[in-house]
Amino acid sequence: MDQQVRPAQSLLGTLHLPADKSISHRSIMFASLHDGTSTITNFSDAADPHSTIDCMRGLGVSIQEDGDQIVVEGVGRSGFVKPDESLDCGNSGTTMRLLSGIVGGAGVSATLIGDESLSARTMKRIIDPLAEMGVTIDARNDDYAPLHISRSNALKPLHFPLPIPSAQLKSCVLLAGLFGDEETEVIETLPSRDHTERLLGLPIEKNGNQKIITSSKQDTIPEQSYRIPNDFSAAAFWLVAGAIHPDAEIVLPNVGMNSTRTGALDILQKMGADITIENRHKEGAEPVANVTVCSSDLQPVEITEEIVPNCIDELPILTIAMLFADGISRISGAEELRHKETDRLAAMAEILEKAGADFTEYEDGFEIKGDPDFMPEAATYNSYHDHRIAMSAAVLSLMASKSSQIQGAECTAISYPSFWDDVALLTN
Ligand code: S3P
Repeated sequence: MDQQVRPAQSLLGTLHLPADKSISHRSIMFASLHDGTSTITNFSDAADPHSTIDCMRGLGVSIQEDGDQIVVEGVGRSGFVKPDESLDCGNSGTTMRLLSGIVGGAGVSATLIGDESLSARTMKRIIDPLAEMGVTIDARNDDYAPLHISRSNALKPLHFPLPIPSAQLKSCVLLAGLFGDEETEVIETLPSRDHTERLLGLPIEKNGNQKIITSSKQDTIPEQSYRIPNDFSAAAFWLVAGAIHPDAEIVLPNVGMNSTRTGALDILQKMGADITIENRHKEGAEPVANVTVCSSDLQPVEITEEIVPNCIDELPILTIAMLFADGISRISGAEELRHKETDRLAAMAEILEKAGADFTEYEDGFEIKGDPDFMPEAATYNSYHDHRIAMSAAVLSLMASKSSQIQGAECTAISYPSFWDDVALLTN
């Protein structure tokens, strides 16, 4: 579907954002691993978390949906059954990587499949450590889905310094570790999102700048009954839109404020964005607040390797903020963006080029010459079926003088099904 985006005269209003995607996935997986019933509220209606529901059902877990409330009858660590069919992870890397840890750890034989985009994403990063733990994964070219997972030997514990700061990889190994007699240890140097260790209550030790997280059979898996916060990653599109538009005030209630997720907030505030945070409180184990953004004068900023994991999903939309800053901004150490739903550096470079921006693309980032008076060219933008690319192009298009088109616009449903309604709500 092609979506037309008209220039916005103003961006004024309150938005009820979708529930956090990362937490939604985990709530279902961890509730399935818990021995008993969990009731999860404000569950995401996006496509990715529903891929996780379908996969857990395939493993024999009973999951009832009633609007945004989900009731999971957890089966405990030993209650999964061998699925009759392949487990379809759709477009979701989080589903495939975390589920591989659960399925491999549990010793269930299963095949994990995904859509074209997911089948082109590297899985070697999880195949190798799981193999060391005694899990066999036959993959296409030893790297790509379909993944045929089985385990005939006892699970071995792993001492695993994370080779890349990936929460999916960290979670995969810790989830497999939950099935082991002895402790598996993951050592993290650059902090990545911590929802897994937080929601499971796993033991954590700090050693200088290192965080050591352990998991084993001895860890009790807690009930997962809580309200899921709204998605900071969805909020980020509006934080940027509100900051760059000259007539904006956007209110975003109940946004997840986990500090391992809010790198983009820190960056935008450093750029001078007018953002107010109110009513900080907790929903279950996760911090939440109401966030308001108003029109701002932005300064340039540098984003370097150590803060990339905290804003990895927000980098595409942050490049849009940089276009309107008064000077040269830089992103480096972000080559991981080339391994997302699409090569996000290449996709954003194409968008910046079409918009007439002054920038250079590097293997690991961008240099962007911003201008507070930048007026993007109206254009037809290719989303490459990547939700975050489609939404970044849409925010840029709101700032043009004529209408633009976003191709493959339906992909926003992967994380933010009401995105186009929210564009209409703020601009009408
Ligand atoms: C996620 C982790 C990140 C992120 C993805 C969701 C998660 O991926 O990009 O959208 O829920 O754990 P990596 O762990 O590959 O960096």
